[in-house]
Amino acid sequence: MPITKAIVLCAGEGTRLRPLTSLSPKHLMPVAGKPLLDWILVDLAAAGIKQVGLVVGHYSEAIKEYVGEGSHWGLTATYLTQEQPQGLAHAVNTAREFVGQESFVVYLGDTVVEPDLTELLDRFEQQQANAAVWVKEVDDPRRYGVVEMQQDTVVQLVEKPADPPSNLAIVGIYAFTPHIFQAIDHIKPSARGEYEITDAIQWLLDNEGGVIAHRLEGFWEDAGYPEDLLLVNRFYLDRCELTVQGLVDESSKIEGMVGVGSDTRISASTVIGPSIIGDQCVIEHCSLGPYVCVQAGCHIAHTTLSNCIVQENCEIRDLTVGLVDSVVGRDVEIVGGGRRGEPLSMIVGDMSRIRNL
Ligand code: G1P
Repeated sequence: MPITKAIVLCAGEGTRLRPLTSLSPKHLMPVAGKPLLDWILVDLAAAGIKQVGLVVGHYSEAIKEYVGEGSHWGLTATYLTQEQPQGLAHAVNTAREFVGQESFVVYLGDTVVEPDLTELLDRFEQQQANAAVWVKEVDDPRRYGVVEMQQDTVVQLVEKPADPPSNLAIVGIYAFTPHIFQAIDHIKPSARGEYEITDAIQWLLDNEGGVIAHRLEGFWEDAGYPEDLLLVNRFYLDRCELTVQGLVDESSKIEGMVGVGSDTRISASTVIGPSIIGDQCVIEHCSLGPYVCVQAGCHIAHTTLSNCIVQENCEIRDLTVGLVDSVVGRDVEIVGGGRRGEPLSMIVGDMSRIRNL
């Protein structure tokens, strides 16, 4: 039977993304013009998922407000509360009732992968597995759950090993039968005090079998750090079809794939694609792009930006040097500066005020 249920884990605090997540949830961080979570819900809907359970904790209200009943994505959304962050297995366990007797997908809410979900689900169904994980070769597997394989057979899974048995990292997307709940009942907290989903899968492997790992060939990023957001932003911008809706005056130049939102005015500026300028922005005497994503309601003047994400309602003006490789939170004001001549690069939390740098 095709899988129609998924749970998306959105309860994490996003501490590694601070200060960007000091006032906003990481799952709603914009990349290429849309929150991370939007891209995940699109992927789930495209793979035939109908019901999504969102495990929420920190910032649950903001997530509920954004996803609502899920109809925008053709999904039915249910909210599952994880009171305390006690690990991924604990988060999955909150979905026991929601899942019932069906197989289901688990999607970590900060995961971006290139191939769509159907690739993993097809393998899971063909092999009638109890658990399927996506794995990808990485340079430093110690940051991840790691799978040891002999040919195509999984022999061991271990979470954040000091001495990794392979360089195959577990990508944060899984498919399970409800047997996983039995496994979760048997595991103990790890050294970092969390119930690890990796340990639950190891229990399944030891006691029931049917654990498969599928190698992911394309792009994968877990958007844990601000630099990862910029990477993911570039990944999606390279794949976007964009249109110009706002007003671009005759003295401005648009080069390449550029999106300009409605009620936005661009004057005396150059915008190099791929880049997106959101709705209701004013852009004057600027050079923006490539890989710039400006969210709605921003006013940017006399400034050069490249490889930057600027969130809603910011004012950036009169920077005499460029701003590069930066993520700027919501409602930020950056006015004047750049005396040292080098381009500036910064990660700025919501509601910050920076003057005459
Ligand atoms: C979690 C999982 C880990 C997996 C990683 C993928 O780690 O525990 O097995 O490899 O996601 O992003 P965390 O992000 O909680 O450190």
